[in-house]
Amino acid sequence: MSKILVLNGPNLNLLGTREPAIYGSTTLADVQALCEATGQALGLAVDFRQSNHEGVLVDWIHEAGVAHRAGTLLGIVFNAGAYTHTSLALHDAVKGAGVPMVEVHISNVHAREAVRHHSYLSPAAAGIVVGFGIDGYALAMHGLARRQGA
Ligand code: DQA
Repeated sequence: MSKILVLNGPNLNLLGTREPAIYGSTTLADVQALCEATGQALGLAVDFRQSNHEGVLVDWIHEAGVAHRAGTLLGIVFNAGAYTHTSLALHDAVKGAGVPMVEVHISNVHAREAVRHHSYLSPAAAGIVVGFGIDGYALAMHGLARRQGA
């Protein structure tokens, strides 16, 4: 169980220039660096990915389930972006893959538009980290590691 998969959904590749008043000015490369430093501190490897395509995210979650069962992957830290609020397919992928997943949002989605208050992923999540900016990724990694006894 030496690895954490950090998955990012649509539009997160635009971090740094995308609505900085909401998401800050750090880039996705900065998030990756933070996750890698956190992984090092935890003694865990980090596989960091981003896709704008729902089916690609589904495929990666299925792969993660296989790796989790094989004992090589602790779980997933997942910021699904707007798919959080729309995707039953991602919910089903996490449940079907049987892989522990911690849901992350940079912004406090509950303080934003009503459409962002519902998450298809939350019922499938081991835990949720919301509203701590990009630090939420590091907090989620720590939570996942503690939960899985790593
Ligand atoms: C987000 C919140 C979502 O509502 C939004 O669609 C995103 C980013 C966040 O990290 O705050 O793309 O997941």
